[in-house]
Amino acid sequence: MPVHALVLAAGKGTRMRSDTAKVLHRAAGRTLLDWVLDAVAVAKPDRTVVVVGHQAEAVAASLEGKAETVVQEPQNGTGHAVQVALAHLGELEPDDTVLVTYGDMPLVPADVYEDLASRPSDAAVVLTTVDPGPPGFGRVKRDAGGRVVGIVEERDCDPSELEITERNVGLYAFAAGALAEALSKLTPDNSQGELYLTDVVGHIADAGGAISVRRVAASDVSGVNSHADLALVQAMLRERINRRLMESGVWMLDPDRVYVDATVTVEPGARLYPGTHLEGDTTVAAGAMVGPDTFVVDSSIGPEATVMYSVLRGATVGEKVSVGPYASLRPGTVLEAGSKAGTFVEMKNTRVGEGAKVPHLSYMGDADIGAGANVGAGSITCNYDGYEKHRTVVGEGAFIGSDTMLVAPVTIGEGAVTGAGSVITRDVEPGALAVERSEQRQIPGYAEKRAARHRAEEADKGS
Ligand code: UD1
Ligand code: CA
Repeated sequence: MPVHALVLAAGKGTRMRSDTAKVLHRAAGRTLLDWVLDAVAVAKPDRTVVVVGHQAEAVAASLEGKAETVVQEPQNGTGHAVQVALAHLGELEPDDTVLVTYGDMPLVPADVYEDLASRPSDAAVVLTTVDPGPPGFGRVKRDAGGRVVGIVEERDCDPSELEITERNVGLYAFAAGALAEALSKLTPDNSQGELYLTDVVGHIADAGGAISVRRVAASDVSGVNSHADLALVQAMLRERINRRLMESGVWMLDPDRVYVDATVTVEPGARLYPGTHLEGDTTVAAGAMVGPDTFVVDSSIGPEATVMYSVLRGATVGEKVSVGPYASLRPGTVLEAGSKAGTFVEMKNTRVGEGAKVPHLSYMGDADIGAGANVGAGSITCNYDGYEKHRTVVGEGAFIGSDTMLVAPVTIGEGAVTGAGSVITRDVEPGALAVERSEQRQIPGYAEKRAARHRAEEADKGS
């Protein structure tokens, strides 16, 4: 039986106090809407329609072909949103299933959608919870025989209805025919003057349609209406992601303080210390150690590498590489196996060959550092002349003395050496030593002469 999924996402999200559409806020690397669409997709709907309104274009642009959109304008309530979506879907068979969910409920597990999609012959399946939860959920009304007869919105409840513990989550599966008929009966006679989707349930019951209920944990249906809700959802997603990683063999000292996007791959045997953030297209290989307090975006960290107290963006860190503490690796940095970017080292668009080391206080930009080379403390590539960037090439096995300024474009030959403190502006041939500094002079006995002069001056003042 065909299934059509509707995702309501036209609402404004006023309480986010944000220019970004509510469903486009991100949690663990995906938009809220993306989380919903990925879970819905597991139920294999034939078509998925997102009802958009506020920031319709931005929401539609975020979908990347995952769903169709239809614009609801004005937003006249959840019932109106479903009317608009059904009109968009066109002619359906009466027994087709229409699944309804919300774009701001990212925690709903995929199996809930699978379960709803397998709607039995009932005209409607209503998702409910009996857990205590946030205010605002409608109450599910049953008759003396326990049959569902309708849903009352909290703001429209009388005192006795407020006592009802079974609450409406807002997710449903309907038989398309029964849904269309009930939608045509909706009226806006409620406290908000809107067309309520919840009233559809009452109309179906009145028409004698069978209604069944599925229960879920309130924690799985937390919606996002504010930044406080968003933080809660992020914490729950973090817990799910980290639990799955630990089950797979990833070590974490304190999983509450490890932040891994859903888009990231961490291999079993990796170790993540507190304060580790892994974002975007990032991979961490087995045996690697990351953190504490490390931020990694769109980077790969190889087997048995260590990355401590550092920031990596668009970097490739090879096997057994050591990064940090306090390194900043910017896009285009490639550290080959066994190499090192040490304490207070910044790199950009730079390749460091196998086993080469840049251990302390350096900036390497637009550089190619050959295998086995050593770059002494405080050395810097002067890669920018104020107009353009230029490359520095350091040959294999070269030894760059401490505090060498490599004024690019410049090439240091294989095995060449630069003297500490040199400003190197011309190419150095392989195996040569290049020193650029004035010769050191020595004045024997200088300190004693200076002290004597000082004593004499003091004696003059005193007399
Ligand atoms: C709705 C239910 C309530 C349920 C609650 C659970 C109704 C009338 N009430 O109330 O019983 O307990 O969800 O969260 O359905 N939307 C549109 N177009 C509109 C209005 C809303 O697309 O015209 C979308 C919103 O973007 C949102 C969702 O529908 O994603 C829910 O709308 P909202 O107004 O928040 O409904 P609630 O008051 O929460
Ligand atoms: Ca100098």
